[in-house]
Amino acid sequence: MTNRQIVVASLPQGALGPEHFELREAETPAPQDGEVLLRTILMSIDAANRSWMQGATYRDAVNAGDAMPTYAICEVMESKSPRLAPGDIVATESVWADHVTRAAHKVQKLPKVQPLSHLLSVYGIAGKTAFHGLMQIGQPLAGETIVVSAAAGSVGGYVGQIGKALGCRVVGIAGGHEKCAFVTKELGFDACIDYRAGGIFKALKAACPNGVDVYFDNVGGDILETTLALMNERGRVVCCGAISQYDTTNPTGPRNLPGVVVVKRLRMEGFIVMDFARDDAKATRALQAWVQQGKIQVTEDIVEGLENAPQALIGLLKGDNTGKRMVRVGPDP
Ligand SMILES: NC(=O)c1ccc[n+]([C@@H]2O[C@H](COP(=O)([O-])OP(=O)(O)OC[C@H]3O[C@@H](n4cnc5c(N)ncnc54)[C@H](OP(=O)(O)O)[C@@H]3O)[C@@H](O)[C@H]2O)c1
Repeated sequence: MTNRQIVVASLPQGALGPEHFELREAETPAPQDGEVLLRTILMSIDAANRSWMQGATYRDAVNAGDAMPTYAICEVMESKSPRLAPGDIVATESVWADHVTRAAHKVQKLPKVQPLSHLLSVYGIAGKTAFHGLMQIGQPLAGETIVVSAAAGSVGGYVGQIGKALGCRVVGIAGGHEKCAFVTKELGFDACIDYRAGGIFKALKAACPNGVDVYFDNVGGDILETTLALMNERGRVVCCGAISQYDTTNPTGPRNLPGVVVVKRLRMEGFIVMDFARDDAKATRALQAWVQQGKIQVTEDIVEGLENAPQALIGLLKGDNTGKRMVRVGPDP
């Protein structure tokens, strides 16, 4: 049986393009003792895929010739381990491919949630990143103002909805009128600023009459610089990511560090979602309750076909997704 795999053909200097990827075909691998053969169902498409191409981060760098790594939901097709049986649904660190083999002890058996896509969105990395970052680092109190960037994206959309469920004023920052309308009308944020329209400082100041207590930063750069200037004393800045810096050779801002942190006694703290894995069950219970109560809308953006994974990532970096982007490689069982 033929197995398709997408490989990084060359590393980008500047913006990522289709020329940086290549689809290769080979025989489907056979599992060895202790391994399972997996069929890919859904692959998570993350801004982080691009940051791994810039060098080592919290994980190894991605180099030319590597199959693109991904977090994936898969079905066990063949097992040479007593831990797993054909038909089991698992999550694993994988690559962009139709099939992979993995050591059975390195994959995580999942409940058969319907649809499986929820295991990548609200109950997956996106929902958990939003929950842990906001609760553990942002520590918002009811009545406080939270600002979140990339608000129509996967992490940002959940941050704002959790903030609303906690009784906070929530202001999003997103690109374009349509996305801002989605963020306020569909996700229930109090306001959303279109950063592409210009005049972001003035617009954000007007939307946050009591200042900003928690800023959940997904983008870094100029937007971080602007929001820092509007923070209240003792505010908390949750450093989740810096997507504005991943796909460029000209990194920018913020220029007001560390002065603004000192003067306003701010706390800025970064995190990686795995840091809080011990609290994952708590996050899932809370997210399930909010989904059941209708306080959280599950937002997903599913691109069909393994061959479209490069464009799905290129587009995410340009902002053509709304909600959690993933690629469907095969159907739910
Ligand atoms: N710390 C962790 O453990 C962790 C885990 C997951 C994700 N993250 C981080 O969370 C952030 C969101 O990632 P995601 O994978 O969930 O993607 P996402 O938010 O679903 O999509 C990315 C969004 O970023 C926005 N964007 C792109 N370029 C931008 C720019 N120059 N300035 C402002 N916004 C820009 C785009 O929306 P617009 O149309 O609004 O521009 C795009 O839709 C990333 O920084 C990622 O690295 C961190």
